[in-house]
Amino acid sequence: MSASIKTSLSVIILAAGKGTRMQSAKPKVLQTLASKPLLGHVLETCHHLTVDNTVVVYGFGGDQVQSAMDSQYAHLSLTWVAQTEQLGTGHAVKVALDKLPQDGQSLILYGDVPLVSAATLANLQAANTDGISMLTLTVDNPFGLGRIKRDNQGNIEAIVEQKDASDAEQKITEINSGIYCVDNALLHKYLPELSNDNAQGEYYLTDIVKMAVADSIIITAIEPDHAFEIEGVNNRQQLASLERSWQGKLIADLQEAGVQFADPARVDIRGSLIAGQDVFVDVGVVFEGDCVLGDNVYIEAGCVIKSSKIGDACHLKPYCVIDHTKIGAGVDVGPFAHLRPDTVLADNSKVGNFVEIKKSVVGQGSKVNHLSYIGDATIGSNANIGAGTITCNYDGANKSQTIIKDNAFIGSNSSLVAPVTIGNTATVAAGSVITKDVDANALAFGRARQSQKDNFERPVKNKK
Ligand code: UD1
Ligand code: CA
Repeated sequence: MSASIKTSLSVIILAAGKGTRMQSAKPKVLQTLASKPLLGHVLETCHHLTVDNTVVVYGFGGDQVQSAMDSQYAHLSLTWVAQTEQLGTGHAVKVALDKLPQDGQSLILYGDVPLVSAATLANLQAANTDGISMLTLTVDNPFGLGRIKRDNQGNIEAIVEQKDASDAEQKITEINSGIYCVDNALLHKYLPELSNDNAQGEYYLTDIVKMAVADSIIITAIEPDHAFEIEGVNNRQQLASLERSWQGKLIADLQEAGVQFADPARVDIRGSLIAGQDVFVDVGVVFEGDCVLGDNVYIEAGCVIKSSKIGDACHLKPYCVIDHTKIGAGVDVGPFAHLRPDTVLADNSKVGNFVEIKKSVVGQGSKVNHLSYIGDATIGSNANIGAGTITCNYDGANKSQTIIKDNAFIGSNSSLVAPVTIGNTATVAAGSVITKDVDANALAFGRARQSQKDNFERPVKNKK
């Protein structure tokens, strides 16, 4: 068995354009769509395929682009190639040539065309039967884009750029997406031969099509499933409109899976969301990172949920912020609760209004209903944490743990100075400052005894 049976796949991502029309100090490919850099979308998508080699052609703001991507996508071992002058798409691929093996194929993608899908790329690769396949689309308004010229048999014979197109060619509505799958042997053969003798004085990658046709190669074309897959970002309007297309797609998929959105136009998913059946999501809800919702989850207006897992039949009341938190089944949260990273709420627990919880476990059936800060704490089951309870977890230098065991009752407005343990079924009197462990079943007072001065005369205001 020879190792060369498998065709190696390279990806070349062109990302050298400056993106002047974004009016930004940031390189265009680092602008974000659904909270992720445009180039990050492309990198993540093509790595759903088996890719052997990823080459990014960079120009403007290269250092910034490289450090942002290399730190996030170190596992992809990206190869960076500088294109110091932007002399055209053909020139951009040419500078990457010596990073490409002689055999195998390359997908040519764009750092500013973020939403091409892995399924489309797999189809494109499968469509490359004779050396070159490309993504094209018939559109209402082809202005500005390369047009696909076909012969009488319908075979592709050339791509003509807008500025080079005759009146008749300008009427063609099948456009070039700019995305191709090309045999590396053909790139090595044709790219050194490109000329810039055209209306823009650029080295056009598109010219490889007519070169291949002259070599009797049949060019195959397929369409993407969605038009937005081949749309590029050149300005803020296009970025916002592509963001809407993407949100629309994610929401439609979730509707098909049984999620009810009060208004699909007023929810954002900036990451991935997996949801069970009969989930309800009200307006103004934002999901970030990877989130999972069970069945019958009910989410009210204005919640922001990041990288969290929420169990069946939970009810999130309005305006909760939930970050890297795991919530069991049947839990009520909010309104106005802030659950910070590494929080776990067990089944049937309850977190009420104006409660902040960080790096803590709230056990099964336990309640933290009003105005509390719980940090670095482990709360057992069926405990009641009274209004205004604070875990004093930080002494200005170190964080310490608070342990509250099953069935404990913490009276309102108590401060639990960590490290401290409240025993099983222990009670803490309201208004206590607890600095020592409390035994199981005990009642602990940590406050001055109430005293009284009879017939007290209130101070009066001094006369002028
Ligand atoms: C190109 C195609 C056109 C197609 C269109 C789709 C050519 C000659 N034309 O148009 O047929 O309809 O894409 O959008 O290929 N880039 C570089 N270095 C360069 C030039 C471009 O990295 O020297 C990058 C840009 O950053 C961008 C992409 O290549 O991401 C496309 O460049 P752009 O100028 O937008 O495309 P056109 O050449 O106008
Ligand atoms: Ca151009």
